[in-house]
Amino acid sequence: MIGLGTMGRNLVLNMADNGFSVAGYDKDENKTATFNNEAGGKKIKAFSDLGSFINSLKKPRTILMLVPAGKIVDAVISDLKSFLFTEDLLVDCGNSHFTDTDERIKRLSAESIHFMGTGVSGGETGARFGPSIMPGGSKDAYARIAPMLKAISAKVNNEPCVTYMGAGSAGHYVKMVHNGIEYAMMQMISETYHLLKKIGGLSNEELKVVFENYNKAVIQSYLIEITAAIFAQKDEVTGSELVDVILDKAHQKGTGAWTSQDAMNLSIPVPTIDAAVSQREMTTIKDQRTSAEDILHAVKDKIHVEHSGLITLLQDAMHFSMITIYAQGMSMLREASAKYSYGINLANVASIWRGGCIIRSAMLEDIAKAYTDYPALNNLMISPLFSEQLNQLQKHTRSVINTAVSAGIPVPAMMASLSYFDSYRSSWLPANLIQAQRDFFGAHTYERTDKPGVFHTEWNEKIN
Ligand code: 6PG
Repeated sequence: MIGLGTMGRNLVLNMADNGFSVAGYDKDENKTATFNNEAGGKKIKAFSDLGSFINSLKKPRTILMLVPAGKIVDAVISDLKSFLFTEDLLVDCGNSHFTDTDERIKRLSAESIHFMGTGVSGGETGARFGPSIMPGGSKDAYARIAPMLKAISAKVNNEPCVTYMGAGSAGHYVKMVHNGIEYAMMQMISETYHLLKKIGGLSNEELKVVFENYNKAVIQSYLIEITAAIFAQKDEVTGSELVDVILDKAHQKGTGAWTSQDAMNLSIPVPTIDAAVSQREMTTIKDQRTSAEDILHAVKDKIHVEHSGLITLLQDAMHFSMITIYAQGMSMLREASAKYSYGINLANVASIWRGGCIIRSAMLEDIAKAYTDYPALNNLMISPLFSEQLNQLQKHTRSVINTAVSAGIPVPAMMASLSYFDSYRSSWLPANLIQAQRDFFGAHTYERTDKPGVFHTEWNEKIN
């Protein structure tokens, strides 16, 4: 393992616990020394000299890397270059951009060195006790590490949360979309918190109980579970509730934005993910928001805001939104798999996301089933396992959004989810008018409803 930061160190401990002997490398001597102490008694040896690390490995070598994405990955590859031999296998377990992974696979395969891009989700605890793992690249290379990955991964009903995702950069692509879904769910949960706090007037203690109850319902998920726990945490410095001391600026390392960007490239709508990324950006312009608060107001007239049953309504709105978020991510993976020739099996993706990862939820069991039953499913929302639920849940979702709109509380993720549903179920959308406008000002042409072909009109009215 190259990189003995939080994730790398914990994955090494996990491997050792599963009977593998592991060498670790980090150029930081303090880290390796501390780790050698921590790992005492286990089959682990950490080095801060690259040559000694490499020489400790059996040939052909299997080297996993967990270093920050971007230039550092290339720097590590270039440091390793003089030590590597034919058939050695490098596995990048970080959150690298999929196009970088494709380029690295190509570059290294010219020298008969295998390179795999592998997504690992689950944070520190996942890495230590069982993450969800999304490996991509050559099937033969995967076969070499499959027994180890299966051993260290999370298990659901004794099934390991790892399987081959597909060719080339498929593993990193699936992890990127995982993170897009993660952003959308976190945004949707934070909107629920906003409504319960500002309209429902719930205290953190009450919020904890509400989220604990949500987590016993059909929306049971890791993100909801940790949300409940967050409300109970006290600040060590002030003794007050920590969540209230945390500044309302959400940062990002980029994977959510990458998801939106590539969805745009693929022409696949993922509006809830887009909304989540934009809203994180909105949170960071706190100075502007603070000055605008004195200038822009919500309507001053008293508008009736519906309080009653808010907790139950919100459970349904989150349920509705969650289905549409997974639907957007899955549709994107479906398109990407075709466009980039990944060969991704969506049932497998849903199945390995059931445990270990940040977006794990009870719902993924049915999502896996939906794609097992109909592998060619265009959109999860039309699966018989979900369509009826959406049709029923929409009423409460609309009512939550009405309440938020009346109260002037932003709920971009919930709104985007509802619009996604309303658009997808509409055989007619007003795009004819957009086409007419394009043809009017730019002679961009349009198609007709009554015959095939491409048409242009000399519009009667001229506007200068
Ligand atoms: C995971 C997480 C992990 C990381 C996020 C954080 O699956 O374990 O997704 O990869 O914590 O990428 O992303 P942001 O810093 O962009 O929120």
